Amino acid sequence: MPTSEKKKSKRRFKLLRGDCVKRLKKYPDNYFDSCVCDPPYLIEFMGLKWDKAKDQQKWHRRWLREVLRVLKPGGYIIAFAANKTYHHLACAVEQVGFVVRDMLEWIYLQGMPHSIDRAKVPKGLGTGLKPSKEPIVLAQKPREGTFPANHEKYGTGLLRIDDCRVDVGKAVPINVLEQYSGFGQVVQPDYETRWNEDGLWPANIVVTGPDKSFFYCAKPSKLEKDAGMDQFPVVTGGRATRRKEGSVGQNNGRAGAGRGGNLRNVHPTVKPVSLMQWLARLVTPKNGKVLDPFMGSGTCGMACMVEGFRYTGIELDPESQGYLDWARARIEWAQKNRKQLRKESVANVVKSQKKTKGFKRTLFS
Ligand SMILES: C[S@@+](CC[C@H](N)C(=O)[O-])C[C@H]1O[C@@H](n2cnc3c(N)ncnc32)[C@H](O)[C@@H]1O
Repeated sequence: MPTSEKKKSKRRFKLLRGDCVKRLKKYPDNYFDSCVCDPPYLIEFMGLKWDKAKDQQKWHRRWLREVLRVLKPGGYIIAFAANKTYHHLACAVEQVGFVVRDMLEWIYLQGMPHSIDRAKVPKGLGTGLKPSKEPIVLAQKPREGTFPANHEKYGTGLLRIDDCRVDVGKAVPINVLEQYSGFGQVVQPDYETRWNEDGLWPANIVVTGPDKSFFYCAKPSKLEKDAGMDQFPVVTGGRATRRKEGSVGQNNGRAGAGRGGNLRNVHPTVKPVSLMQWLARLVTPKNGKVLDPFMGSGTCGMACMVEGFRYTGIELDPESQGYLDWARARIEWAQKNRKQLRKESVANVVKSQKKTKGFKRTLFS
């Protein structure tokens, strides 16, 4: 086999440019094991054209119908939304035929207040709160038969609870957490405390903060956003936010991500890799095929490489912003460094690579 083909066959990802609905039409029914995605929030963020729709539920139904078709029975979809537009997404999810199973919350506590200029309203008043969380819908394509029967036939339909447990550094009593909680259907048998060393049952919130009872995840750092992107130019804050360099507008929170500049990946809505890993792991069988119809700069793809999934990402790349090229570079980097990334964060791996490079430069210059 020629080297180029060998390289290709080792790839565990496929990246497609274009409208996800048109691209998905080429896929057969029941093909993917899960869909993990971050669709446009439809809040016209930074005036972006792709973040806009007249009828939001109609817009969401269009892509969700295709996703429902290409997912295996019992397959899960995980999709992010904004607080004020979540209801449209959740309604559309149900309208096309998914069964909504939960609403997760990523609580990151780092948002900027959303309000009009307060100088324009009477003292002490404003028009909005500080967004400090993002809701996530968890839904399932209807199963064929029972959970175990569906799982037996398709490998889908069950959540990977034990692989997503939250390590609290000590054993936890499982009788309390598992047998008697939930639906109240279990008649209390003779009490016998058993202990689980593997951590707490995963909750439907992910937090940035000191409480270690939940999966923990902060917003991505510059190092994480730019991982694998050395060949791309550094972008100034003005270009990143499409405002005048150094202007008041550029420094306003509403100018969006990348205000400070000095970034290569200036996609305005980059998610953290570890969060996407945890979510993808929760809903995807081992070695499964993950679909991401709204790839952006490829964070979900990076997560899938670390977790050992096969990944298909679709990106419109409006106005040839470069999103697809950034995604390819980041995902390739994650695939190459996947073993290290299973043990360490993206930022730590980047830091240690920079140190090694600096050391080599000093040694050979
Ligand atoms: C919220 S962003 C995803 C960002 C991603 N989570 C990341 O970490 O980089 C949504 C992406 O969907 C893309 N998009 C919008 N409409 C699309 C469509 N119809 N088909 C494919 N991609 C689309 C946008 O260009 C944008 O990059």
